[in-house]
Parts: sequence; structure tokens; C-alpha cells
Amino acid sequence: MPVCIGVLKEPAAEEARVALTPDVAAKFVELGATIAMQAGAGERSHFTDQSYKGVQLKSSEPDVLAAASVLLKVQPPTMAEIDGLPAGAVVVGFMQAHRELDMVRRLRDRRITSFAVELIPRISRAQSMDALSSQAAVAGYKAALLAANALDKFLPMLTTAAGTIRPAQVLVIGAGVAGLQAIATSRRLGAIVEAYDVRAATKEQIQSLGAKFVDTGVAAEGSGGYARELTEEEKAKQQAILNSHIAKADAVITTAAIPGRAAPRIISRAAVEAMGSGAVIVDLAAESGGNCELTVAGETVVTENGVKILGPRNLPSELARHASQMYARNLLNFLQPAIKNGELAIDWQDEVFAQSVLTHDGQVKHAGTAKLLAGT
Ligand code: NAI
Repeated sequence: MPVCIGVLKEPAAEEARVALTPDVAAKFVELGATIAMQAGAGERSHFTDQSYKGVQLKSSEPDVLAAASVLLKVQPPTMAEIDGLPAGAVVVGFMQAHRELDMVRRLRDRRITSFAVELIPRISRAQSMDALSSQAAVAGYKAALLAANALDKFLPMLTTAAGTIRPAQVLVIGAGVAGLQAIATSRRLGAIVEAYDVRAATKEQIQSLGAKFVDTGVAAEGSGGYARELTEEEKAKQQAILNSHIAKADAVITTAAIPGRAAPRIISRAAVEAMGSGAVIVDLAAESGGNCELTVAGETVVTENGVKILGPRNLPSELARHASQMYARNLLNFLQPAIKNGELAIDWQDEVFAQSVLTHDGQVKHAGTAKLLAGT
């Protein structure tokens, strides 16, 4: 039977992205797949139903689910979505398994094969499938714009008849995918940018974007290109030097993260108190606990000394059109090798599928999640 790709309107109120865009729908059709899409699924990212060629539009969610052999999602599937799928169907999306254990149980019990895009290995062959990176790039770009917007200053230097305006100073903490994009965007807007990351390897990347690397003398290369957790002594040293840079920044954009752990606390209350009135912090780690002690996820806090702390949630959704375009491409690149003559044939020897599978055949395949489930 030809594979049927199912696409729904994401039910979460704060989610404007869609997992399939018109250009990617056309590619799936070329591969021999059929597509069942809920009418209006692309609306919030400004893709009209008419722009999707060759898809079967369904008026209701249950109709899509009943037809789907592969459901494409942005957010983790809801219980109703899982229950509506035929047994043995496949779901692909951001699964957030560590905080959605009930969802994992239901996927397992309903014998749904689920793939978590965040578990796709970060090997060179899989770069085009890397949804963590594509969405982080969107978030980093938007974070720089939020900082610029929240400041009561220009970012660039201006020479005007009314005098010369000095450029703003932006400090980016955490120079992974999001941080590098925040640096590039702040630079394009004309700010003077400094950046810091515990991984010394980022120094060259930071400098190549025209920013200055803040050297604290602490390096923390972990495995797989990620950071490891720092010792107390390293943290104190890092902190003292960073604090002096935080104090003189007009805007601080923080993106520091350690996979599978709460976000590292990098900006203390005292560091915020040392900042100038009108300074801005954009904390991209707000949803995983925040890099700043005073961050409140989803809110803007204004401190007594006049520092604005933004804790945005789900920034990629705010740039839904391009975020969806990149995400849908990631999904196509992931699934394409598994679609042969229009039929689904997953090669379980392929590490991309083997490592990103969460549930299959009535079992939880991801070791970390299986351990979490066993402990509950
Ligand atoms: P992430 O979102 O997990 O972390 C963001 C940044 O925070 C990282 O650069 C990390 O070093 C930094 N960080 C952690 N603790 C910190 C602290 N206490 N102070 C300052 N910074 C701290 O990372 P992301 O953006 O998902 O990727 C990190 C790296 O992984 C990339 O820069 C790259 O080297 C590698 N990568 C490899 C890919 C591939 O080969 N396909 C694709 C994407 C990333």
C-alpha cells in the first residue's frame, strides 16, 4: 500500500508552525506517497490549502488520522491523535519524551512507531535532517530582533546632523546554532558583539562572524560537540569574568544549554543588579529553567534597576513560515530514504532511524526514555 502522509493543524494554541509545506508536499507526491491533510493546517504559517497541490484535504482530524500511515507533527502528538491512528502507524516530530511519559506509554501500547527528530544523530550525513539546528537558527535570529526591539537605543552607529550615536554592545552567551545566528543577526544590525561559550572550539566561529570572544580561561568540551557540566571552581572563575562583561552590555542574549539537563544558570540576580538601567536580557533557555536567575518563561520581567528580562517561549513559531519550510525539509530528508516506490521500508540498520526511534513494535526503543519509564 502506498504510504499516506498525514498532516494536522497543530492543536497547541501557541504553535503556528506546520509540519508540511507546499513544496515538500509536492516532493512526497513525487516519491509516490499520498497525502491526507486537515483543511487549514498551513493557515497559521500562511500556506493556503490551495497552495498544496496533489493533497487530499480532509475536513476533520479523525479523517486525517484514520488515513495516515505516517503522521508528521511539530509538537508531540496528543492522546487523541495517537488513539486516532491505525495500529502500526508512524509518527515523526519533536517528541519531548522526557516530559511526555504518558504519551510514550500510549505510543508503545498502541504499537505506534514514533521517531523523535531531536534524537536524530548529529552526523554529517544527517545535517539536512537536523531539526534542532534549523529551529535553533530561527530562534537565534528572532532573539536578536527581540533584543533590538526591547532596547531604547539604536544597535548601529549613526552619524547624523544631531550628533553621533555610539553602537550598542551585545553579549551572546552560548555560541551553538542559536547563539551563532544571534551573533550574525546582531552584527548585521550594526551592534558591537561579544560572545562566550564554554567550548573553546567556538572561538574561531565567533570571530569569523565579526564578534569578540570573551575568554574566561575555562574550557568544557564534552562529547559529541556538546558542553559538559562545569565544576564549582570553573563556574566561579567563569562567572567573575563574565559578570564584568554582562555589566557593560546593553543587551545580553543567552542560549546556553546542556542536552538532557536544566539550563545552566549563568546570570545571577547580583549580575542583573550590576547592569545599567534600560539594559535587556533575552533568555532563550527560558523554557528549560533559564540561564538567568530572574527569568520567567513566557513573560517579560522589569527589575527595580530597570533591566528588562525576556523569557520567550517557542520563538520558531513566531517565524512560522520559514521555520515550517526548514522543518518540513528536515522531515522530507529524514523520510525520503525510507520511501521506496511509494511504500514505507525503514532500514533499521541505518543509525539515523535506529537512534531516533522512540517506540516500535510495542516497545520503548530509546534507552534513556525506557529508563525514565521504569523509574515511574
Ligand atoms: P545546545 O543548544 O545544546 O547548546 C547551546 C550552546 O550552549 C552550546 O554551544 C554549548 O557549548 C553552550 N553552553 C553550555 N553550557 C554553557 C555555559 N555554562 N556557558 C556558556 N555556554 C554554554 O547546542 P547546539 O546549538 O544544539 O549545538 C552545539 C554544537 O553541536 C554545535 O555548535 C556543533 O559543534 C554541534 N553540532 C553538530 C552538528 C552536526 O555535526 N550535524 C549539527 C548541530 C550542532
